Amino acid sequence: MWLFVILSLFAINVDGRHTGELVCRNCGKSITRQSELINVTGVDEGQLQYQYDFDLVGKKTKVHVLTNPEGYKFHVFGAKTAHLHFHGSPQSAATWYPGYKWTICLCQSCSRHMGWYFEPEKPSDTSEKKSFVGLILENVISGDYVDTLTKVPDF
Ligand SMILES: *[C@@H]1O[C@H](CO)[C@@H](O)[C@H](O)[C@H]1NC(C)=O
Ligand SMILES: [Zn+2]
Repeated sequence: MWLFVILSLFAINVDGRHTGELVCRNCGKSITRQSELINVTGVDEGQLQYQYDFDLVGKKTKVHVLTNPEGYKFHVFGAKTAHLHFHGSPQSAATWYPGYKWTICLCQSCSRHMGWYFEPEKPSDTSEKKSFVGLILENVISGDYVDTLTKVPDF
């Protein structure tokens, strides 16, 4: 009985969110979680400024630093899935990941630009290409960290 209670406390925090969650830095909406994180491969080296490993909610994750044709720089990491809204239709121009087209993705709650959904150009592609979400590192924050800021001190 007590063991069950303690395990539950570790798995779910006071707001009912799961640990290891990444939330929108602007509004706190859940975006994705640790178990969804992936190291994305196949980046266009010509558009890659540099890359580094970043400890994201306890998991070392590859971050690609990329610029778009307008000159904006983004630190992008990968997730298998994320809770986002699509904005516009899929585009192939200036893709950072050759063989993938991209669709802009917004936060479902505050509409902040959170990243892009990348899907294989050819759905019938027999290669190993799988769709993924490229998320903007600056626009997410650890849900656990947010809780340390909002929790009332317990004396
Ligand atoms: C990314 O690769 C590193 C090794 O280079 C590994 O330690 C890490 O767990 C990987 N991260 C993910 C999200 O798969
Ligand atoms: Zn938001």
